[in-house]
This record gives sequence, C-alpha cells and structure tokens, in this order.
Amino acid sequence: MALAVTSTSSSSPAPSTSFFSRLGSSSDAKALQIGSFRFPERPNLSSVIVNLTQRCSSVRPLNAQPQRNDSIVPLAATIVAPEVEKGEEDFLQIAKDLENASPLEIMDKALEKFGNDIAIAFSGAEDVALIEYAHLTGRPYRVFSLDTGRLNPETYRFFDAVEKHYGIHIEYMFPDSVEVQALVRTKGLFSFYEDGHQECCRVRKVRPLRRALKGLRAWITGQRKDQSPGTRSEVPVVQVDPVFEGLDGGIGSLVKWNPVANVNGLDIWNFLRTMDVPVNSLHSQGYVSIGCEPCTRPVLPGQHEREGRWWWEDAKAKECGLHKGNLKQEDTAQFDGNGATPSNSTATVADIFDSQNVVSLSRAGIENLAKLENRKESWLVVLYAPWCRFCQAMEESYVDLAEKLAGSGVKVAKFRADGEQKEYAKSELELGSFPTILLFPKHSSRPIKYPSEKRDVDSLMAFVNALQ
Ligand code: ADX
Ligand code: SF4
Repeated sequence: MALAVTSTSSSSPAPSTSFFSRLGSSSDAKALQIGSFRFPERPNLSSVIVNLTQRCSSVRPLNAQPQRNDSIVPLAATIVAPEVEKGEEDFLQIAKDLENASPLEIMDKALEKFGNDIAIAFSGAEDVALIEYAHLTGRPYRVFSLDTGRLNPETYRFFDAVEKHYGIHIEYMFPDSVEVQALVRTKGLFSFYEDGHQECCRVRKVRPLRRALKGLRAWITGQRKDQSPGTRSEVPVVQVDPVFEGLDGGIGSLVKWNPVANVNGLDIWNFLRTMDVPVNSLHSQGYVSIGCEPCTRPVLPGQHEREGRWWWEDAKAKECGLHKGNLKQEDTAQFDGNGATPSNSTATVADIFDSQNVVSLSRAGIENLAKLENRKESWLVVLYAPWCRFCQAMEESYVDLAEKLAGSGVKVAKFRADGEQKEYAKSELELGSFPTILLFPKHSSRPIKYPSEKRDVDSLMAFVNALQ
C-alpha cells in the first residue's frame, strides 16, 4: 500500500535560513492552505525559543547545515530525499556525533537528510512529542500509525485531536483483513492471553509496519532508554535498522532514528506541558505506556510503565516485534562477527520462527531427515539461534514463506543449532554462520545450502522453486 504524502511546514521562512533562525522568525506565523496540504499556523514559541536555542548551542552546531531545497516548501508532493546515506559505519559515526544533541536537533537532522522518505511512527501516546519536535523544525514531515483495530477509543479520539492540532493527516496502516479474519476465526478474539502476543502482534502490527517501511528510507520512533531497562537500554539516537527493510530492499536499506532515546519520561512530560500539546486522555487514568486496549493497563504509583503492557508475560518478551532488534542487545553485541558464537548465549531470549507452519525439529528429527535417500516431501530447514539478530531479521519472511508453502509439498522447519548442537551442525549440516538455510530435496540425500544473504520471501521462494 502506497503511503500518501502529508506534510506540514511553516509558511514563510526562507529555505536558506538555519532552523534556529527559522524558529525565531516572527513572519512565519501564518496559516497557508496549498492544495490538500495544510501549512498550519505556528504556535507562539517566543518563550521556548530561548530555552531550545540555549540548550542546543552547548552541543555540536548542527544548525550550520546544508540548506534545504527550495522545492519542498511550496509543494510537499514534490519533496525529493535530499541525500540518502547508507552503511552502518556512517550512522555509527552520526549516532556518536548526536549522542548529546537535543531531540530537536536530531529530528532536524533526520528530516533534513531524508525529506519525504522518512516518517514518524506515532503510537498515540506520549510520543506525540516527536510530532511537536518535527513541527518545531519547520520542515515538512510525515506521520504514520499502525491501527491494529484494538486500540482504546481514547486513542482514536487522540489521533483526531492531533490531526486537527497540527493540521496533518496521519497515514494509518491497517492489518490485512484476510489475516485478521483467519486468526480471529480460528483462535478467537483473545488468543494472546492463551498463547502469547507474538502472533496477534505479527498480524496486526508487524506486517503493516513492514509494509509501511518498505515505502520509506528511514523512520522515526519514540523509543527511550528508560522505557524498558531490559530491552531498550542501548537504543542509539540513530542506527541502521537491524530488522526491517526500506525502499531499496535488503537489511541495511532503512535507517531508524530515535530522537528521544536519551530523554527520560519526566522530561518528555514537562515538554508536552510546556508546549501545550494534546495528550491521550488515558494518561490521566493511570496509563503510562499505551498500546492496544486488551494488552495495556494502568500502572500503580512506583510500578514501571512497561508492567502495564502484556502483563501476563515474561518481562523479557515485552517487545511486540516493532523493535525486536532491541532484544538481548548485550548478546548480539558480543557476537563474534560471523554470527556463529554468542559469548553469552541465554535461555531467556524468546524463541523465534514460532508458527504452526514451521516444524520445530529435534536433533533426532533432523538426523533422520538427513539420513533419508528418498523423502516424501522436500524440506527447507533454517539452522538458527534465537539471539542472533540476522535470524531475528529474517523471522517475518521465513514465517511468511512457511505460510505460502503450506500444503504445497514443501515442509518448512527450524533447528536450533547453537549451544550443544553447534558442533554437530557445523560438521554434519554445513553450519557456517547463523542463519544457515538448507533445502533437503525430495529425491536427493544431500542438502543444498542457500547461498545468498538475501532472505526476503521472494528470494527464498525462488530458491525453493528452482530446486525442490
Ligand atoms: S511497542 O513495541 O511496545 O508497542 P511502544 O509502545 O513502547 O512500542 O512504542 C515505542 C515506539 O514504537 C513509539 O514511540 C512509536 O514510535 C512506535 N510505535 C509503537 N506502537 C505504534 C503504533 N501503533 N503505530 C506506530 N508506531 C508505533
Ligand atoms: Fe494483538 Fe495485543 Fe499485540 Fe495489539 S498488542 S496486536 S491486541 S497482541
């Protein structure tokens, strides 16, 4: 689904001025309507400009940036991404440079770099701060939200209030109706209480997110380190997205900005109050972190905000898949580079490739499979480790592939090959690095190793079709 362009911008500042002088311009306080794009009136910022400017002037002067292309001011639909940088090296450096920068500077940098190819992921909670920051930069910006169909009525009202306040159209992404239908008809409306939230989140959130991101080169999230000490303590202000793909396809084609990574919740709330930004009315009922209605509840004073999310599950699993690159960062950071050795492999990492269409093979199971000369069906098997971020990154496509191949005569399976299985997998199953994907064709005893780094559904499907 193509994302429509929605943009706001201040009307008058000359594109050649820095964003701080644009912030301070008094001549930009007009509302303009150009085509379907609304360029809303700027709030009276005089009281905060001084603070923001002072705060920013103590760090690297990012306001001395290349000037903005004139064309993006008058017509958002013609916005062209000014410059797209790829490669983890560059963004590691940019992340270092911006580590002490203010969210406003980070936001400005993100919007400047990616133009129309970047969008804010807005959850309907206090991450409305991102929209306020984007608005304050004076640059055009886009906002999308994943409407799971299970949000609280208050959140829908809040979306509406935000659209009106900023004069924007949020680009809602919806789940695939056939997938939701299948899930609800087979498992009921509350299956997540029985067998975990991953499956429902995959259908209602992760796949729509994947679709949204395929139309972008970068996205902006409201993740903060203090939101979840277990999973978010390492969130950088910018990173090459370790999990999702952007417009150009392949891991590495998408950049993820987290402008408020280093800000704590209290400061976000001070900012929202100072700027008189609309907020979700659920906050005044004790909700802090807000997601879907059945999976979110208020927390008590002193309770961590994350305790109000998926409270019936182990705290370690509380990433719904939108940010699963965060899972066990300490493990992935100790990776030996080729993905083969976690120095600190842990049983607490949630398992992956959980789907009724993916058979989980035991050691005996895969030994038997490998021995057979003539199989009834071809088998595709991934040798994986759940802590491996490359395995995590291909989870969606592998599960999708398994769904597509269900009943086709090709079985899709997984074999956990770390820990004590690693030596066997290395010597008998050609395990080099994780993930290793093997096809055991129907009429041949020898498995064929998938040779490519491309692990999208189409590439995997082409491999299977060519060889089974
Ligand atoms: S979640 O993964 O547990 O659901 P959380 O609620 O903490 O995420 O939000 C972290 C960030 O993820 C938000 O600031 C936002 O950028 C993005 N996000 C979460 N939920 C949504 C949603 N429904 N639509 C768009 N973005 C979302
Ligand atoms: Fe489903 Fe709950 Fe995940 Fe929402 S948060 S998508 S209702 S499991």
